[in-house]
Order: sequence, then structure tokens, then C-alpha cells
Amino acid sequence: MDKRQNPIAVFDSGAGGISVLKELVHLMPGENYIYYGDSLNAPYGTKPTEEVRRLTLENAAMLIEEGAKEVVIACNTATSAAIANLREMYPSIPMIGLEPAIKPAALECKGGKVLVMATELTLREKKFLCLLEKYKDTAEIISLPCPELVEFAENGITEGKELDNYLNSILAPYTDTVKGIVLGCTHFPLLRNAIQKAAGKIKLYDGGIGAAKEALHRLNETGLVNDASCGSIVFKSSLKDKEELYKKLFYN
Ligand code: DGL
Repeated sequence: MDKRQNPIAVFDSGAGGISVLKELVHLMPGENYIYYGDSLNAPYGTKPTEEVRRLTLENAAMLIEEGAKEVVIACNTATSAAIANLREMYPSIPMIGLEPAIKPAALECKGGKVLVMATELTLREKKFLCLLEKYKDTAEIISLPCPELVEFAENGITEGKELDNYLNSILAPYTDTVKGIVLGCTHFPLLRNAIQKAAGKIKLYDGGIGAAKEALHRLNETGLVNDASCGSIVFKSSLKDKEELYKKLFYN
């Protein structure tokens, strides 16, 4: 079989990577995709790094075994824990990671404050600390771990009073002062409308579009672009019940 028809594998700790899958399909509608969510083990963001690394390596190995021509780690947390290992283990497979969109936020909010909403693991790992160091003189970057928000998205709650109250309570201390908010976890763009409502006019940034562009760039470089007019998507989960939720979030 022509390798260009092989799927792009996209995975996350659960439903969050659907926000990245949307950007990928928008940019590359002719590709075939396998989406895998490890909802059985979600959340990743509150676990020790070693455990998340092990789970991430297992997910990638399974998807490569299924023929993935490219792997998109649609999870900031899993990327922080394991992308270096994955690139070393599979040098011939393009590996695309997610990282908080601090660069565009800091450059556009120069001299102001930028709030980064992400998981605890992302905020303590080297990848994030390097970004902090790099942009510390461009903008004041404030970290806000939000594990509860992952739970809202993982349970399919993307709107409603409970979510609004929660968001108002965590964002209220910042809404008068910050100029930009980085959605540094792929679950959060699924809640974008509710977050924007609580954030008012503050601009939101996320890394999904950048990752999709990078995924296309790497396929071009390796001659693996599938230029079919319409591709397919297979949704899989380590928790069978969640496959319907992934579809619902994707097609919504
Ligand atoms: N969606 C993930 C991220 O981008 C992690 C959520 C979690 O499992 O804690 O960081």
C-alpha cells in the first residue's frame, strides 16, 4: 500500500486532543486519521512524570504498530514528559508535540501580563521552564494549574452554570490585569466559549493551529502528504464509552 494513505495518529490523555484533531482535519482534509484517547488513565496532568512517560510511550508504540505515518502528541502534558524519548526511539517517523503558545502571546502582549492555564505536570517540566526563561523579559508570565477544567472537558461539560461559576472564580483575580491567556492544555479549547465568556475581551491563545501547520510541514518534507479529496477518521479510546463523546466533541 502507498504509505501516503497510512493514517496520521493523534493521541491525548482523553478527549482534549479532539481540539487538535479539528485543526489537523481543517488543514489536511484528505488525510486518514486515527484518534486515540487514553481516558481510562486520564488525567495525566496530576500524575508523576515517569508514569505519564510510560503511558505516552505505550500509546505511541500501539499507534505506530497500526501503521501511523506521523504521530501527533495532542497533549501538552504527554509532550513535556516524553517527546524527547519518542524522537530518539522513532527517528524516521515525524513526531509532532504540543506546547503552550507562549511565544505569540508574549510577543503580542509585550510588557504586559500573560496567564498560562495548563496542567501541573506541564507547568513543572523543563519544556515550560525553558519557554519561561526565553520570554521572561518580553512579558510577565503567570502560571495557573487547572486540573478541574480537564475534568469538565473529559466529562463532556463544555457549557453551563457550574462551568461558568468555576471559570469566574479562577479567572477573577486576573481579568483586570492580564492581556492574554494561553490555553496550555488541549482540553481547554473545547471549553473556549465558556473561557472567553469569563475572560471578557482578553485574547486567548492555543497551540493547536501551530501544531497542525508543523504536522503538514513535516509530511511535505518526508513526501508523505495524502492529496486525496476526502479522508477518514477512526475514534478509539482505552475507555470504550468515551468514543461517542470524542465524536460528539469533534462534530460539534
Ligand atoms: N490534554 C492534556 C494536555 O494538553 C492533559 C490533560 C490531562 O490529562 O491532565 O496537557
